[in-house]
Parts: sequence; structure tokens; C-alpha cells
Amino acid sequence: MNLEKNLNKILIIDFGSQFTQLIARRIRELGVYSKIISNNKIKLKDILKNNVYGLILSGGPLNVYQSNKIKLDKRILNLGIPTLGICFGHQILSKEQGGKVKKSKYREFGLATIKKKNKSVLTRDFFNRNNTCDVWMSHSDEVSKLPKGFSVIGSTRNSKFAMIENLNKKMFGIQFHPEVTHTKNGKKLLKNFVFSICKLKKNWSSKRQKSKLVNEVKNQVKNSKVICALSGGVDSSVVGKLLKEAVGKNLVCIFVNTGLLRKDEEKQVVNTFKKRFKINLIYVNAKNIFLSKLKNISDPEKKRKIIGNLFIQIFEKQAKKIKNVKFLAQGTLYPDLIESKSVTGSQTSKIKSHHNVGGLPKKMKLKLVEPLKYLFKDEVRKLGIELKLGKEIVLRHPFPGPGLAIRMPGVITDKKIKILREADNIFIDELKKNNLYKKIWQAYAALLPVKTVGVMGDNRTYEYICLLRAITSEDGMTADFYNFNKKFIQQVSNKIINNIKGINRVVYDVTSKPPSTIELE
Ligand code: XMP
Repeated sequence: MNLEKNLNKILIIDFGSQFTQLIARRIRELGVYSKIISNNKIKLKDILKNNVYGLILSGGPLNVYQSNKIKLDKRILNLGIPTLGICFGHQILSKEQGGKVKKSKYREFGLATIKKKNKSVLTRDFFNRNNTCDVWMSHSDEVSKLPKGFSVIGSTRNSKFAMIENLNKKMFGIQFHPEVTHTKNGKKLLKNFVFSICKLKKNWSSKRQKSKLVNEVKNQVKNSKVICALSGGVDSSVVGKLLKEAVGKNLVCIFVNTGLLRKDEEKQVVNTFKKRFKINLIYVNAKNIFLSKLKNISDPEKKRKIIGNLFIQIFEKQAKKIKNVKFLAQGTLYPDLIESKSVTGSQTSKIKSHHNVGGLPKKMKLKLVEPLKYLFKDEVRKLGIELKLGKEIVLRHPFPGPGLAIRMPGVITDKKIKILREADNIFIDELKKNNLYKKIWQAYAALLPVKTVGVMGDNRTYEYICLLRAITSEDGMTADFYNFNKKFIQQVSNKIINNIKGINRVVYDVTSKPPSTIELE
């Protein structure tokens, strides 16, 4: 059964913008169901039979006159359904309604100020007191002639027809992107479109999201077995729990203890998934092999490669023991998808070889189940809550696949791992006790490969330096260090030094990303 077919919805026609998923996400945030469909695939009958209350035409990389590449059944725009064109969508809507589009004299990329020209239901609470609003632009073409029956709502210095409307036809065009956070009141504009113009009512929630995904997985997997690599992190945990609801006993999770996990992490994973959720879980203790392969290795990329390859070997070996497996479930999120392909097709430089439980063997010839691939991290967290995963898992800071290995520059030893684990535990514990954990996107302790002199109880010490890192971020792509007050950081420093033998100095990392990265290696 297609649960969403009968839901009143916004249909987003995608012309290839990088931000199309972001539009869908903003509509979901408003509590309304939205569906994306490629402009190449959309048919008139899809709209007529699908309870479509509003259309959004997305941005895209093309020029509206490349008619051989742009397929859009023109009749769609004559159905009387409220329509909002964004960026390229604004241009194609204008062109189709009889306006003209040409190359802009001045391209507009980044922030621009839009000025109110006329009142509109679309812009209620959108402009500030000076009748302006900061918006985010990304275009080199512009609407140069207004289509008949349209009027201007707002203009920027370089784009006279940046916001237009034809109220009779319920058509609106905007040159900027309301879906990105840089557009100050973008969400208010979308809200006006969805509720005041399309007259939709709230009908979407995490609960519905969950039923939709469970159903999709059921339909995909049917009666086959699925394996899932569980790391204990948020994404794989949500996938594991979702799959348990969808396929029950046909799910087998594999959890590899690399020996590079946080304090008591393996116990938590086994307790939660095996005992509490009664999930088929294969626990592989591979500590020794990881540590022996990593012996004397200090190069960060070598460490990452060794861990990644070993993980795959172990996973494959275990997976082969399970009969009739046809699917591999992964916790791929939408940002992973956009980041993994270059949108412009240009060569991007490699900073780190990221490894996570997602990057699993292609040669296993298993079909992928990626239920989270259109979601963003915070949506996955909400889904986790809906799946009753428990806040301790859902709200946990991200943890990298290579684990403590990349928080310990230089060679890895058992002794260093033990010291680091304790220091990290103290830091995180203090963050939680002081209500700081949730304000921080990611925090951890690292162990630097330098010993320095200290004095404790009148004696000389010569021990390691512990580095603390705590950052705020939206998505891990950029980050800033968190500004702790002196009392807190002093308290953590004292606790670490007083409780852990092997550390006599604590430093706090005050670099942002860029120029640094979040992890040390
Ligand atoms: P960086 O250090 O690249 O980290 O600024 C950005 C985010 O990614 C996490 N990270 C990883 N996650 N496998 C993962 O699953 C990896 O190999 C990996 N390396 C870094 C990091 O913890 C931060 O959240």
C-alpha cells in the first residue's frame, strides 16, 4: 500500500538543483508531506491522481532555452494548482508564461538584499522593518521581461524581477533560494506558500516518516535476509532498529569491536541491541588483530586504510556464514550522497580517506538498503526517538569509523588507548553533568604524542598531553570551537590529571574548521 498517495502534498519538480532535497526537508519541517519528482519523469496524470495542492519548481544548472534538455509538460502549469518557481524554476515559469530570460549583466552568487516593491501574501513577515530581507542567490541568468498578468513583489540591485506573482493564477516566482539557511526569512516564505496559498494542513510527522520508511523497506526486501553493520553510532543504530521493525528476524546485525571504541561502548551496543531490542547480533571481538596490524604505524592515512580494509575483511567473513543474504543495509544520509559526488564534475582534493561502516564491500554483490538516504542528521535523530531508540544513542555525538586511532597521533599502543579512553570519558561525563553536551555538536579527548615535564606532589613528572576538542557545527563541514568558561575547563583539566596516570598537561583546541579539521588525523 502506498501510504502517501492519498496524502495532500506539495509536489517538487526537480530540475537538478543541489538544494532540491533541502526544499523537501523545509516542507517536512512545516509538518506537510512533499514529494520530489524529476522533471523528466513527471506526467500530467501523476499530478491529477496524487492530491497535489502545490507545485514547487526547483532550481537547476541549465538555461531555460536549452529546450532539448528540459522536458516539462506545459499543461501542468495550467491546472490551477498554486505554483512557486525557485531560481531556475522562477525563470522557466516566467518563460512559459510569456516572459523572457537572459544572461544577467551581473551574476549574483551569495548574499543579496531584496527590496519590497509590492505587498503579497507570499511575503507576510518576510521583509524586515526597512522593507528589505537578506537572501541567498546563485544565478547568472535573470528574468528580463515580466510575463503578462504578473507583477513585481521584490527586486535586488541586479535583478529587477527577483520576486513576482500572478495572484489570479496563484503563480509565484523567486530568483533566490528560500530553502537555504542564509536566506533570513526563507522558511516564513515557504510557510506562507504552503499554508496561506496552497491551503494545506499539517499532515506529516516523524511517526509518519517512520511508517513510510518501514513500508518502503518491507516492499524492497520482502522475505530475504538483510545484514547491517552496526557501529553503535546514531545512523547505523537507527537503520538497525528500523530494519528490525520492517523485517524482524530476517535482520542480522554485525558489530565489530575494533579495540578502538570509547569506554564501555561494546557493552552498551550488545546490551542495547541484543538484550533490549532482541536483534540478531553477531559480536566480533577483533581487538587483537586491529592492534597488531596497526603496530608501529603512525601515518594517518595508513592507519585509516588498515582499519577500513580490516573492517571489510572481517565483515565479509562473517557475512559469508549467513545463508540467503540478499541485502546490505547502510546508514547513508543525504549529505553523504551529495558530498560523495562532485556536483560540478570538478576534481576535489582528498583531505582524509573517510571510513565508516557504510563503505562496505561492493564485490559482495548485495543489493543496498539505504532508508535514510534522503534525510538529514537531525531528521534521523527525530526518527530514532520515534523508533524508541533511547536518547543516549540518538543524541550521541558523532564518532568516526577509525575510532580512537585517529585521536592519537603517532603510534598506537594498548597503554595509550587505555589512557585516552579514560580521559575522553571524564570529559564527556563532565559535559553531561554541566548540561553542555547537547549544546556541543561533537566533543572528545585526544592524546598527543608528546611528553612534557610537570610537577606533582613535589615530584617531577614526564607524561603525555591530553588535547580537548569541542565544536559547534551544523553538519560537520564547517565548525567553530566551543567557548567554555574558565571554571568548567579548569575542572575538567583537574579531573583528568588527578584521575589518570600518564597525563600531566591538558590543552584546549581553539581552531575552527577550516583551517583545521574536526578530528586530528
Ligand atoms: P573531519 O575530521 O573530516 O570530520 O573534519 C568531520 C566529521 O566526520 C567524522 N569523521 C568520520 N566519520 N568515518 C566516519 O564515520 C571516518 O573515517 C571519519 N573521519 C572523520 C568526524 O568525527 C566529524 O564528525
